[in-house]
Amino acid sequence: MDTLDQKLVSSWFNAHSTVPSSYVQPPECRPGKLIATPGKKIPVVDLGGNDRADTVKHVLKASEEYGFFQVINHGVSKDLMDDILKIFKEFHAMPAKEKVNECYKDPNGSCKLYTSSENYTEGALQYWKDSLTHPCPPSGEYMEYWPQKPTGYREIVGKYTRELRKLGLKILELLCDGLELNPRYFSGGLSEKPTMLVHHYPPCPDPSLTLGLAKHRDPTLITILLQDDQVNGLQVLKDGEWVAVEPIPNAFVVNVGLLLQIISNGRLVGAEHRAVTNSSMARTSVAYFIYPSYESLIEPAQALVNGSTPPLYKSMTFAEFHKNFFHKGPKFEAELHS
Ligand code: OGA
Ligand code: NI
Repeated sequence: MDTLDQKLVSSWFNAHSTVPSSYVQPPECRPGKLIATPGKKIPVVDLGGNDRADTVKHVLKASEEYGFFQVINHGVSKDLMDDILKIFKEFHAMPAKEKVNECYKDPNGSCKLYTSSENYTEGALQYWKDSLTHPCPPSGEYMEYWPQKPTGYREIVGKYTRELRKLGLKILELLCDGLELNPRYFSGGLSEKPTMLVHHYPPCPDPSLTLGLAKHRDPTLITILLQDDQVNGLQVLKDGEWVAVEPIPNAFVVNVGLLLQIISNGRLVGAEHRAVTNSSMARTSVAYFIYPSYESLIEPAQALVNGSTPPLYKSMTFAEFHKNFFHKGPKFEAELHS
């Protein structure tokens, strides 16, 4: 059996002029189907305006209608955004064995490098990407296990994740305003365990047959994604059609995750999305997942349920949610309802 360094798509894609059969999606999942009617667009929200009520309105509307939006004037510097994309591109360009070595410093496996999907299974349907993931909590815990290469990794990723935490809390506060929740509702345990997830999608000889990432909802409160300026790939399912999230230089893509869908009692939607591949350019995307501590209770906020609006979802700890989500996949969504 191949070792991880041999299995990484980035290790072998160059040697293939066709797509290996295990990467060929069944016809109904291939990218060409159900592309959105022109004009349907993921909303863009300016976070730098002076009218807070107006910003709240836009963030709330986008989260209710699409579960996705892009933010501009968000306060994170262009230099830092450039640095972070550069460092992750360099990471994925390192020799495969070095990448593996850099990712397995923690005997408990807090940092991981994997290919295709997190629960990679030999012989199963595969996805055209390699990914790196590790926790990045504000406490600095786990940093000692992060990669040390490329040079400056810990410093730059540390700086970036501190900035993203600020941005994440700012967006969550705007949503609290919109939902009429206490502005600090998410600032404790519910946002305590953020995680980085960095994807690398190498060029693919036939993008019409493959996917980089299967259709899914994120198991997060919100996700903040930085994508390559130049390369399309992310698509959102809206009313049965796939809408491309066009890259906007220096913007972040924000999406509502399943946890926030539950907490908002279904007012906000954790939209389904996927990533497609392309034949000419590698694509890198950097996701910052806002996760709760394992003990946190995930349930509709008390302030949003009453006699006429009963809770739509069961209450469970994040540990229970997480375990089920990873074992059962999207099938678990049906079990969330009360
Ligand atoms: C994810 C995700 C999109 C992308 O990591 O959950 O949806 O464009 N990523 O890589
Ligand atoms: Ni996602």
